[in-house]
Amino acid sequence: MGPVVAGAVVVAHPLIERRDSGLLVRLAGMDDLPVDGAPQLYQVLAEPTEAWLKFSRRSIGSVFLMRTAPEQVRAFNASCPHVSGPITWREDTGDFYCPLHESRFAADGARLAADSPSPRDLDSLDVELRGREVWVRFQNFTPNTAEKKPA
Ligand code: FES
Repeated sequence: MGPVVAGAVVVAHPLIERRDSGLLVRLAGMDDLPVDGAPQLYQVLAEPTEAWLKFSRRSIGSVFLMRTAPEQVRAFNASCPHVSGPITWREDTGDFYCPLHESRFAADGARLAADSPSPRDLDSLDVELRGREVWVRFQNFTPNTAEKKPA
């Protein structure tokens, strides 16, 4: 598994108002991602900018980033679509794996078993490249539904 590093939340709105459309976060630089495509795991931290908000910086999820071409990046929410188990990347078998009920996913996010506990493939996230910066529109999705719906 790759390193877990903090992403910077750059949306200057209370978190609750941004939940439907997600948060745009800068997670990495292009040069932080291995050219061989090995997935790297990044934690997304919410850092409130509104003075009246009382909670401090906290994790709101994790994202796998993979370099799929010299100037192309793929992103997945690292929460299992079944019931939100922690997805890991297994170097030895070259797949994503959830230890809770043993769902397995290919590098492109597709389920690897017809009888997978997961009702859908891994949840992809939109990636935006700004020069050498990798930005991701982070969202969590409703678990255990065949349809990918924002949570
Ligand atoms: S939570 Fe991942 S397989 Fe059940």
